[in-house]
Amino acid sequence: MMNLATSQTAKEPLLLAGKPVADALLASIAAAFEAFKRENPHIKTLPGLAVVQVGSNPASQVYVNKKAKVAKELGFHSEIHRLPVETTQADLLACLEALNADANIHGVLLQLPLPSHLSASQLQAVILPEKDVDGFHPHNLGLLLAGQNPFSIPCTPAGVMRLLAHYQLSVAGKHAVVVGRSNIVGKPMAQLLLQADATVTICHSKTPDIEAITRQADILVVAIGIPHWLKPSAVKPSAVVIDVGINRHPQTDKLVGDVDFEAVSPFCSAITPVPGGIGLMTIAELMHNTWQNFIKQN
Ligand code: GUN
Repeated sequence: MMNLATSQTAKEPLLLAGKPVADALLASIAAAFEAFKRENPHIKTLPGLAVVQVGSNPASQVYVNKKAKVAKELGFHSEIHRLPVETTQADLLACLEALNADANIHGVLLQLPLPSHLSASQLQAVILPEKDVDGFHPHNLGLLLAGQNPFSIPCTPAGVMRLLAHYQLSVAGKHAVVVGRSNIVGKPMAQLLLQADATVTICHSKTPDIEAITRQADILVVAIGIPHWLKPSAVKPSAVVIDVGINRHPQTDKLVGDVDFEAVSPFCSAITPVPGGIGLMTIAELMHNTWQNFIKQN
């Protein structure tokens, strides 16, 4: 049987670059910060972001440095707390509680993944909801699920929604398929798409015949963590494809997504690149969440 994708005529898809969207968001934060300083000359506190990293996972190291760099470029106060891999749950709880109590810090981010002896869920629940810039605290996740206003929305899914809006890709009434059910991306992503009136399906490692489902997607969000996992045979012609993956290619060591971009892009109407797509959005949304928390606390 001819596969659906290869039966279509190849054409150039719309490239959903993250940079112009992320830059516009960062510029709007910078402008709001300037206005705040003009209007509140007596307030000397800067928006403060603390990122906590346990161990030395090389990918985390890169992300943490990038987050701190962008925060500094905005003129925010930025701290990185690098803790040794043998840090105990109690030590880490104490670190997070100290950041909760620190008036110079408006956003606390515990970089994942954690070493396996630590429990992420207990630690995430200790960060005050109003400082939880990841939006992973049960209070914030509960508000997200209820369609109410959490202090923060998880950065990557928020970035996907902003990107879709920027490129005027409508979501209402579309069938959105999310591949991956992580707390960081898959679950909140599905929730945001649902709130935007998509019909949402979540697929995961135990879904039989995933391709039969992904081929129904008008909007396909892939967050599975396997380099070049999505092939043309799994894509409906003219789908919008959002690649959340950031992986090292096992042979070339280059950064690649979960989507086989070269193979898939001729068959979709729009697609995000990796790098240069959702990764930039995640960082910009983190700054947005930090800024929002600062404003709510001042
Ligand atoms: N590791 C990969 N993505 C994320 C994220 O969005 N937040 C945190 N805390 N860790 C991550």
